[in-house]
Amino acid sequence: MQARATSKAAGIPGVKHVIAVASGKGGVGKSTTSCNLALGFAAMGLKAGILDADIYGPSQPRLFGLRGKPRQIGPRMLEPMERFGVKVMSIGFLVEEDNAMIWRGAMVISAITQMLREVAWGDLDVLVIDLPPGTGDAQLTMAQQVPLSGAVIVSTPQDLALIDARRGIAMFQKVNIPILGVIENMSSFCCPTCNHVTPIFGHGGARLEAERRGIPYLGEIPLDIKIRETSDEGRPVVATEPDGVHARQFVEIARAIWSAISTGVASRPAPRIVIE
Ligand SMILES: Nc1ncnc2c1ncn2[C@@H]1O[C@H](COP(=O)(O)OP(=O)(O)O)[C@@H](O)[C@H]1O
Ligand SMILES: [Mg+2]
Repeated sequence: MQARATSKAAGIPGVKHVIAVASGKGGVGKSTTSCNLALGFAAMGLKAGILDADIYGPSQPRLFGLRGKPRQIGPRMLEPMERFGVKVMSIGFLVEEDNAMIWRGAMVISAITQMLREVAWGDLDVLVIDLPPGTGDAQLTMAQQVPLSGAVIVSTPQDLALIDARRGIAMFQKVNIPILGVIENMSSFCCPTCNHVTPIFGHGGARLEAERRGIPYLGEIPLDIKIRETSDEGRPVVATEPDGVHARQFVEIARAIWSAISTGVASRPAPRIVIE
């Protein structure tokens, strides 16, 4: 049998690259960003999928405007849902919301593992994982479960979010996963009536932090009511307004990420030898 030399994520047959989208805390727009990045990869002509690993607060069904249950194929496998050319899997398709809320850590990890391994992802160039917020056990396990091509950190410009983002960066560095870069979301406020741009959270903090740490800065997404509305309605900007300024920004970031993972530019920190 021929070895799949091109497949980094050997654990998921057919999937070439798996990237994690992470943030130190919730509410920074990680799910919105993951969704639009997956769509950005698809817009580039790549085969893309998204795995919603946020068991306690799944967002991808709403973001993609998807309802219903995935079809079962064979005794154990599920077919991912699909919208706008992107394959989507989320716990939100499988159990009632209140049900998963009470799961303990071990069940959460097993649910994520099943969504990785028992879903017929097919041939994908890139699988985006929308990680739960924070840097706990679930995130760490997740980071070690699949050979990730890298992690993208989403942060708002606020100091507090940046402190949390630093924790996220430290976590991935500890397990030798390359940081593909930082995205500053809700970077500045774009007034829907006069188009005036106001940096209400002190714009540019994420860029400075990235520069300070020698991590690529991938770009910024403004705080715009349009991004919120389209997300709430299951009409993500990259799919529904591909020529708009926000869509173009997301696609540009997707291109930068793809160029880093496909050329192997994302540098993996040298493994440390630990003598016990
Ligand atoms: N750039 C943005 N402009 C306006 N609203 C945004 C933006 N990014 C995210 N939001 C909104 O902020 C809320 C939290 O976003 P979400 O992606 O769910 O965050 P997280 O996954 O980090 O918890 C959602 O209501 C979303 O629509
Ligand atoms: Mg989320």
